Amino acid sequence: MRSAILTISDTRDLGDDPSGSRLAELAAECGEIVTRELVTDDLDAIAAKLRELVQRSDIDCILTTGGTGFAARDNTPEATRAVIEREAPGIAEAMRRETAKHTPFAMLSRSVCGIAGNTLIVNMPGKPKAVEECFEVIRPVLKHAIELLCGRTRH
Ligand code: MTE
Repeated sequence: MRSAILTISDTRDLGDDPSGSRLAELAAECGEIVTRELVTDDLDAIAAKLRELVQRSDIDCILTTGGTGFAARDNTPEATRAVIEREAPGIAEAMRRETAKHTPFAMLSRSVCGIAGNTLIVNMPGKPKAVEECFEVIRPVLKHAIELLCGRTRH
């Protein structure tokens, strides 16, 4: 799996980004990190960055962290919806359902997952612990999801 890690935050930078760092560590266990980037919570900036990453042929999966909550500047789900062509609700549902066994606050993430072209986009919350919990839920299906998207396998 060739991943892009995208942190969405008004306050962090790449040198001080614990959830992006943790997500990169976890994704590296499943393949290659092609790029790691950070954008502000601005909806247009997030959507533009997602579109730029989707255009790249060397990225299978964009994993985002942050901006999924209820605050006024939490725009990641809306930006993701603006970019994807097909939603993958089962992934977001599973992350919320399974991680709610650790904390009821999992209900407060509005994460969206979906497909743009051959690229899978997965939103995760903006805390290292949430990233860990969510990644463990999707880890078993990521490889097969990417293979299906790239046409490398049929179900
Ligand atoms: N999901 C898991 N698994 N663990 C968590 O600690 N925190 C929640 C939620 N999802 C949490 C979680 C909280 S407190 C918030 S506010 C939302 O994610 C949104 O976080 P974000 O705005 O940083 O994306």
